[in-house]
Amino acid sequence: MIINKHICNYRPVILILDSGVGGLFIYNQIKRVLSFAKYIYFFDNEYFPYGKRSDFLIVKRLINILKTIQKFLKFDVVIIACNTASVVACSELKKIFSFPIIGIVPDVKLAVMLSRNKIIGLLSTNVTINSMYMRNLIKKFSGMNLILQLDISNLIEIVENKLYGKCVSLTLVRKIMRPWLELDKIPDTIILGCTHLLFLKNEFKKIFHKNIFFVCSRNNILQCILKVINISVFNIYKLSKFNFIKNRVYCSTMSSKTLMLMPSLIKYGFSSLEKIRITNF
Ligand code: DGL
Repeated sequence: MIINKHICNYRPVILILDSGVGGLFIYNQIKRVLSFAKYIYFFDNEYFPYGKRSDFLIVKRLINILKTIQKFLKFDVVIIACNTASVVACSELKKIFSFPIIGIVPDVKLAVMLSRNKIIGLLSTNVTINSMYMRNLIKKFSGMNLILQLDISNLIEIVENKLYGKCVSLTLVRKIMRPWLELDKIPDTIILGCTHLLFLKNEFKKIFHKNIFFVCSRNNILQCILKVINISVFNIYKLSKFNFIKNRVYCSTMSSKTLMLMPSLIKYGFSSLEKIRITNF
């Protein structure tokens, strides 16, 4: 639990991690509500995409990232804005580190509440689909619902490119979604179980019919953060005057390609991009 009882000086530092740009969506959503907080966004482009790594390597990498960042920067709470990393590594990380860690995971519970035809789609990486965490989550909440799962690892690069300034090919997105589009009964509720996919919501809306619910984990996350930073919703308004804070963004490798992300980062309110070299502990 964080700590500062003097509500007017209260500016928790929230560290948000992802393999790439997917977590920027989460950052933006959280920042809108918790504008008084200070944010550090770290994307692990050296190791991107996590969906192509083994569970062991993802856990090891996340430990190294947190140990390295801890040396340079102060933060109060960590948001793992990556479903792949959360389902595989969160429980291990919580054993090692004493600061609060909140992982973004597919919100199966909400999808079950929303679905009318009882067919739910889960879009996520293969690592997420095959994780023990996900299997347990589905077992716990799916009830009579049919949960269809589709590996969207090939969409992640498309989203990265979108934020690096390239156009998204709707034909390609449609092709990846074809297994579901060809079904007699398609899911009426789709869980965006990868933070990158939040940037494709408009494309999905064009491809699927209008009445589909798209579920992301934003609400859960906000509730968890408020709990961890020990602030009630009623105090958010008082604190929102602290919104002139400079947030910072870091990556794990820097190249001319990385710099092409700058216009998108500026849109999200960041003014510079720095590299943190991740140490192997
Ligand atoms: N944003 C990550 C997720 O939510 C992408 C995974 C990857 O890097 O493959 O799963």
